[in-house]
Amino acid sequence: MTNEYLPLIAKIEEVKEQTKGIRTFVFSIGKDTDFSYKAGQFIMLSVFGFGEGAFSPSSFPVKDGKIEVTIARVGKLTTRLFEMERGARVGIRGAFGNGFDLERVRGRDILLVAGGIGMGALKPLLEALLLDRNLFGRIDLLFGTRTPSDMPFKEDLELWEKSELLKIKTTVDSPDGNWKGDVGFVSLLLDEYKTDAGKTTAFVCGPPQMLPSVFERLLAKGFNTNQIITSLERHMKCGIGFCGHCRINENYVCTDGPVFSYDEIERMERKL
Ligand SMILES: Cc1cc2nc3c(=O)[nH]c(=O)nc-3n(C[C@H](O)[C@H](O)[C@H](O)COP(=O)(O)OP(=O)(O)OC[C@H]3O[C@@H](n4cnc5c(N)ncnc54)[C@H](O)[C@@H]3O)c2cc1C
Ligand code: FES
Repeated sequence: MTNEYLPLIAKIEEVKEQTKGIRTFVFSIGKDTDFSYKAGQFIMLSVFGFGEGAFSPSSFPVKDGKIEVTIARVGKLTTRLFEMERGARVGIRGAFGNGFDLERVRGRDILLVAGGIGMGALKPLLEALLLDRNLFGRIDLLFGTRTPSDMPFKEDLELWEKSELLKIKTTVDSPDGNWKGDVGFVSLLLDEYKTDAGKTTAFVCGPPQMLPSVFERLLAKGFNTNQIITSLERHMKCGIGFCGHCRINENYVCTDGPVFSYDEIERMERKL
């Protein structure tokens, strides 16, 4: 039996600047290491002698023994990570959690709604969907950030756009002179979005202040509450259902989630 508290040693192979406060870290874990994850699962990433936090791999699948994780600098651990350079070593535990259930959405249309760093959680899902593109219906991505310079994954967006495998709409709250996308909150893009809600599953990830307005519009469009899926962020310590840090009533976000449907979240919150 493997010890889930024991981290795998990984090396920072590359650091890609996405925006001023968001970077993608490429960690190498070795080509022969037996490590895999589902889109939507998370890892516990540790800076030795400093601390550990939950992060979702932002690419899918593991390629050449490398994992990408896109990180927003928000506090102590993430600032420490931003100070680290190529070659530095970190620890990785996991992968943990349930991840997105692709089997459940086979044959359905897919709508991804992302805000800011939330795109990091949806990107591996999109990459997994594109690997088996013919198994799914129409795929749409609505992505919003505060300003154009806050938009991560610009190169990926360009490649996806060129691939014509999905439709993409981007929006910013405050445009600059060169901005060619929409202007306004990402939830507003839903007003123009035409869909057959009965055959569509929506995956929504973004800052907490974005979620209620997106959920409200999806419900108004007739989305079933079990076809609105999101990933919850809670403070995590163990990641494996022991410490209780991530608990909401009887649910442990680290093991029962972090991916939940809207109706599951409603049931959890009703009991609070
Ligand atoms: C399943 C999961 C996946 C995640 N994936 C990513 C990811 O891919 N990229 C990424 O940048 N971040 C991700 N996070 C959030 C990340 O864990 C925290 O931002 C990070 O641990 C903060 O550490 P810190 O020491 O830098 O910040 P701290 O100094 O601990 O806190 C800074 C601020 O962030 C808030 N915060 C800290 N941790 C969390 C948390 N877990 N949930 C909500 N708010 C928090 C604090 O309340 C505080 O306001 C994820 C969290 C979870 C639970
Ligand atoms: S993080 Fe310890 S129980 Fe979930």
